[in-house]
Amino acid sequence: MKSQKDLEKPIWDQMRSPSGNPIPGTGSSIRPAPKLMVWLILFVSVTYVVYTLKLVSTSRACDGEREPFSTTHRLSSTSTSVTSNITSEPSVQNQADAHRHIHKHESQELRVQRATEIHHIVFGIAASAKLWNQRKEYIKIWYQPNDMRGVVWLDDSVKSNETDNLPPVKISSDTSQFPYKNNKDIVQPYGSRASNVRWFVMGDDDTVFITENLVRVLRKYDHNQYYYIGSLSESHLQNIYFSYGMAYGGGGFAISYPLAKALVKMQDRCIHRYPGLYGSDDRMQACMAELGVPLTKEFGFHQYDVYGNLFGLLAAHPVTPLVSLHHLDVVEPIFPNMTRVQALQHLMVPKKLDSAALMQQSICYDKRRTWTISVSWGFAVQIFRGIFSPREMEMPSRTFLNWYRRADYTAYAFNTRPVSRNHCQKPFVFYMSKAEFNSTMNQTVSEYARHRIPHPQCRWKMANPAELDTLVIYKKPDPYLWDRSPRRNCCRVLKSKKKGVMEIDVGVCRPGEVSEV
Ligand SMILES: *[C@@H]1O[C@H](CO)[C@@H](O)[C@H](O)[C@H]1NC(C)=O
Ligand SMILES: *[C@@H]1O[C@H](CO)[C@@H](O)[C@H](O)[C@H]1NC(C)=O
Ligand SMILES: *[C@@H]1O[C@H](CO)[C@@H](O)[C@H](O)[C@H]1NC(C)=O
Ligand SMILES: *[C@@H]1O[C@H](CO)[C@@H](O)[C@H](O)[C@H]1NC(C)=O
Ligand SMILES: *[C@@H]1O[C@H](CO)[C@@H](O)[C@H](O)[C@H]1NC(C)=O
Repeated sequence: MKSQKDLEKPIWDQMRSPSGNPIPGTGSSIRPAPKLMVWLILFVSVTYVVYTLKLVSTSRACDGEREPFSTTHRLSSTSTSVTSNITSEPSVQNQADAHRHIHKHESQELRVQRATEIHHIVFGIAASAKLWNQRKEYIKIWYQPNDMRGVVWLDDSVKSNETDNLPPVKISSDTSQFPYKNNKDIVQPYGSRASNVRWFVMGDDDTVFITENLVRVLRKYDHNQYYYIGSLSESHLQNIYFSYGMAYGGGGFAISYPLAKALVKMQDRCIHRYPGLYGSDDRMQACMAELGVPLTKEFGFHQYDVYGNLFGLLAAHPVTPLVSLHHLDVVEPIFPNMTRVQALQHLMVPKKLDSAALMQQSICYDKRRTWTISVSWGFAVQIFRGIFSPREMEMPSRTFLNWYRRADYTAYAFNTRPVSRNHCQKPFVFYMSKAEFNSTMNQTVSEYARHRIPHPQCRWKMANPAELDTLVIYKKPDPYLWDRSPRRNCCRVLKSKKKGVMEIDVGVCRPGEVSEV
């Protein structure tokens, strides 16, 4: 998508002024606080969507952009004081609550009140009507209408009237088609909590969020301050072409509420200063730069500007929570022998058991058989003949092509390694086949089945990993993993009596435990 941006430049230039202008005219009958909210969601979502959908706007765009206005009005009017009380909200609330609770729970209560929860987040999803039937399935994978709020912005009306497990859909160019005439639908599921917006999170229709981890990441930051959080492209050239300081929209990014307010205040001036920028993620960054707010990089947001198979990247995830996956139509399904949607649904099984640990790597060795074992929890395990250092194993293997569809290892903004240097060392891959929680043992049990593909003949006189059919991994759920300093978990090969089965324990490293032979 990004590589086509230069072609779209003339289009952007045409649409720039219509989409920038209508906003000032909308506020006549509105109170100041909702007005701010409106501008905020309007700016953050609509400008973002405008690019992504490659809207060629006409005068209708004015109606389209006015339309969300009533939405946001609702959002803020259900609770009277989103904007005015935003800074004082935690302490005011906590005081009231503290009186209602017995002393023992007081400090706990304060902490709970302050932590960011999923209902503090408003999602804005940019979607294309043409691809809606196919891509809405990605949204259903992660979106929980009862716990979350968000809006899907479509560039055109769609035939499907399906609304199950989807956020309210809005058409940004034609309000008359909009099925949610009554904007209550957007706030209703959240009841009285509706007002409490702390973060706006933007994504595309082919982005899948691991929302538990998104919350874990946002919780680290004070939502009362200016924060612009996201991640870069994998492509060095894309980063040079756009910016190494820009959050890429497809991987998703988060903007704190006060920052969104500040952006809204300056948006027209800022946007008009950058006619040369045609995406919304780069205009966003241009305005951020004017505000002097840098990108806070969180490497769990994944733009995935690559082709081919994500395996190498997913099997060596950085030591940070997995927040999002993007370009899921571009890459192969993440599990073999499944459709893309099935593969992602399959990934949600371990996610439900231990979201913090999803895709987290651990590295250990089978000393007896001199194998290297690399676990990506909930996804896959690789076994290599011979010993590789953790330093090598934590580099992604190049199972993917770059954004220009070439196998060029200089194309990335991070280190990679070849899949194998020697044909004997081609990894044996085991993909997660099932995962469950065993309440007797109080831990998760996940099974990984060997991916049966032909391996080259190997004359090395050592045990062959092909003798294994199944790996079983035991791991205690660890929801507080990311409250501690980042560190890979350790894995240990257990003695197994079952033929063709290897059992592995994954967990917090014991004192003095390191990944070595
Ligand atoms: C918001 O603040 C005003 C005073 O600034 C106060 O009267 C009102 O009760 C507050 N609202 C909430 C929900 O705390
Ligand atoms: C969706 O459309 C079909 C036919 O157009 C109709 O039968 C059905 O009731 C509609 N469903 C909803 C939820 O509006
Ligand atoms: C792939 O799926 C098909 C149909 O679901 C099944 O028959 C086949 O055994 C599967 N192949 C592998 C390698 O799992
Ligand atoms: C849980 O683990 C125990 C001990 O290994 C085993 O006996 C039991 O069958 C397991 N339960 C389930 C539901 O798998
Ligand atoms: C299960 O493990 C959790 C933490 O890992 C612990 O808090 C809990 O007490 C354990 N439950 C049992 C029955 O052992």
